[in-house]
Amino acid sequence: MREVRAPGRARVAVLGAGLIGLDLAERVRRSEVLDCVLVAGRHEQTLGLRRAAEMGCPTAAGGIASVLEAGPFDIVCDASNAQAHPGHWALLRPTGALLLDLTPSCLGTMVVPTINGAEAVAGGNISLITCGGQAAIPILHALAQHSVCGYVEVVCSGASATAGRATRLNIDHYIHTTQAAVRAFTGVPEVKVMLTLSPANPPPPFRVSMTLVPARRGAGMAAAAAGAVVQAAAHSVRAFAPGFAVRFCRVVDDQIRVAVEVSAPGGRIPAYAGNLEIINAAAVLLAERYATRRESASPHAADPDAADPDAAGPVGAGLGAAGSVSAGLSGGGKDAAWTAS
Ligand SMILES: NC(=O)c1ccc[n+]([C@@H]2O[C@H](COP(=O)([O-])OP(=O)(O)OC[C@H]3O[C@@H](n4cnc5c(N)ncnc54)[C@H](OP(=O)(O)O)[C@@H]3O)[C@@H](O)[C@H]2O)c1
Repeated sequence: MREVRAPGRARVAVLGAGLIGLDLAERVRRSEVLDCVLVAGRHEQTLGLRRAAEMGCPTAAGGIASVLEAGPFDIVCDASNAQAHPGHWALLRPTGALLLDLTPSCLGTMVVPTINGAEAVAGGNISLITCGGQAAIPILHALAQHSVCGYVEVVCSGASATAGRATRLNIDHYIHTTQAAVRAFTGVPEVKVMLTLSPANPPPPFRVSMTLVPARRGAGMAAAAAGAVVQAAAHSVRAFAPGFAVRFCRVVDDQIRVAVEVSAPGGRIPAYAGNLEIINAAAVLLAERYATRRESASPHAADPDAADPDAAGPVGAGLGAAGSVSAGLSGGGKDAAWTAS
């Protein structure tokens, strides 16, 4: 039986009942300030909608039409498909809901919580970029403040079982959006992003390897300085994604090479699903911050900033020109209880 929610929580709808959507719905249900009022898919009989219902979430099979019908919502999380996202935004925009885009559509304001997270409080269409972007950009942004890079390369690798059909359909969007975001948050014009999904068993962890090549000899960083910057950035990310770990950080031939891994600590997804963890943890952080501010702004609230440790945080601090950045085949996991297909 689903617990009775206290009034005042933000009403949240999750659009898309796949790997990302189900994990997100579960996180929203665990939140003290959010209420998962709807999980919307496209087909009544899909495993994802059945699992959402088993978790205690109200469900509907009419896609965006179901969301509009059951609304208004304070927050809508789009965990469907990058191709469908522009249509969803066009329909949701007039409702005034905060739209958190988990697809790599590259449409809204790109947000990385530790850099420009406060932008999400303003509402609108907030792009969570990609899982690779959420893992790489805190590190790359921090290093770019201390060195002049001419080229950045990002290689993301993860387990095939953690990528649903929509993720596979959106691979080109993934590359394009991650590259655009790395360019925007670092100011480095030449960026290359690659992605591999491995069907190996046991499934590999979610890992992001980064190489920063200085624009000219001597424009890079000493190893100790780079290490300190990377660890500080990682520490900030761990505040909301505790499984974020730096596995490697070296300076070789003036190039800074860093590898991070993200593991999912507990919950319904396996530890290797760090790609789900990093983007969904970011989405819930932003949703909770938005909900808390919204509640604080109500006439009954005493001190709007008292409960929010990020209240005094900079909006897009250090971003420079990029301060506002717009821009089924589940492999070995098919039978696992956490999957949706
Ligand atoms: N998996 C990851 O690691 C990851 C990480 C970050 C971001 N993302 C992004 O998140 C999105 C979902 O990925 P996923 O791995 O969760 O894929 P998935 O398991 O295939 O889930 C997608 C879900 O969205 C539904 N859907 C698709 N188009 C829709 C529409 N127009 N209206 C309503 N529902 C729709 C699908 O329903 P049907 O079953 O009817 O197709 C399915 O339930 C993708 O854009 C992906 O790039 C994925």
